[in-house]
Amino acid sequence: MATPTRSIKLFLYTLGMLSCCLSAVKSDDNNHAFSPCQDTTVQVKDGFSFGISFASRAAFFYNSSLQLSPCDRRLSLNSQNSQIALFRPKVDEISLLTINTSSFSPDNYGGYMVAFAGRKYAARSLPAFVANSTYTVTSFTLVLEFKKGRLQNLYWKRDGCAKCSGNSRLVCLNNQDCAIRTPNCINHGGNVDCSLGIQLAFSGTDKHLSVLNSWYEVENLRQYSLYGLYSNLRDSINKYITL
Ligand SMILES: *[C@@H]1O[C@H](CO)[C@@H](O)[C@H](O)[C@H]1NC(C)=O
Ligand SMILES: *[C@@H]1O[C@H](CO)[C@@H](O)[C@H](O)[C@H]1NC(C)=O
Ligand SMILES: *[C@@H]1O[C@H](CO)[C@@H](O)[C@H](O)[C@H]1NC(C)=O
Repeated sequence: MATPTRSIKLFLYTLGMLSCCLSAVKSDDNNHAFSPCQDTTVQVKDGFSFGISFASRAAFFYNSSLQLSPCDRRLSLNSQNSQIALFRPKVDEISLLTINTSSFSPDNYGGYMVAFAGRKYAARSLPAFVANSTYTVTSFTLVLEFKKGRLQNLYWKRDGCAKCSGNSRLVCLNNQDCAIRTPNCINHGGNVDCSLGIQLAFSGTDKHLSVLNSWYEVENLRQYSLYGLYSNLRDSINKYITL
């Protein structure tokens, strides 16, 4: 099995922990925007804060038609059944984020997730299906696309169903996601750990126009399961907060 060329770090922050980690920022992190709802421009090696919000698909749309960032108060995700996880990965470093679902069932929070960052320059992904009472998708790839260091776009890159074939525990949904039957998940009384693994990749340019190319590496690594490779990172603390 190939070893990735970059070190892989796992970042999992909650709002409460952000104050702790402010002072713990390494000297090569020059990005002082810690909230995911702040605008910033970054360079290679900076930390970059973004969030993932869990809610129903409809909760991410204003007036049933306009998808807004979860940072936008018009969505009033506060008053809805939603959860948010915050992360601060290093720009241009491949990271695998895990969201431990042993005490959090995405299907109890609407079953969809949106990745987001920024306020005036708000970027948000499309809502991705995570779970309902029938199926749970556990493996995701999120691409963060920057232009001159400013986040332009966040999108879910579908892995396709190659991994499902020959695995009787997995079901292919819409020709794009491999899913586990939710009743088999530990949080529903089964024996499969349905924690979410989100592989991150960076593309575009940083504020000095250096090219971010971790995306290229993920493409090459895709044949291996990063989730399997880094399963030793699983003992991370996972906490959830409401928005
Ligand atoms: C919401 O949508 C309705 C019908 O599509 C439209 O008439 C109304 O002006 C919209 N409201 C806002 C605040 O955009
Ligand atoms: C769960 O989601 C799948 C895939 O989107 C869908 O086919 C199924 O009908 C849903 N089940 C329930 C109970 O909503
Ligand atoms: C999630 O947490 C449970 C309980 O702490 C642990 O047994 C399990 O291995 C964790 N799963 C992952 C993927 O980190």
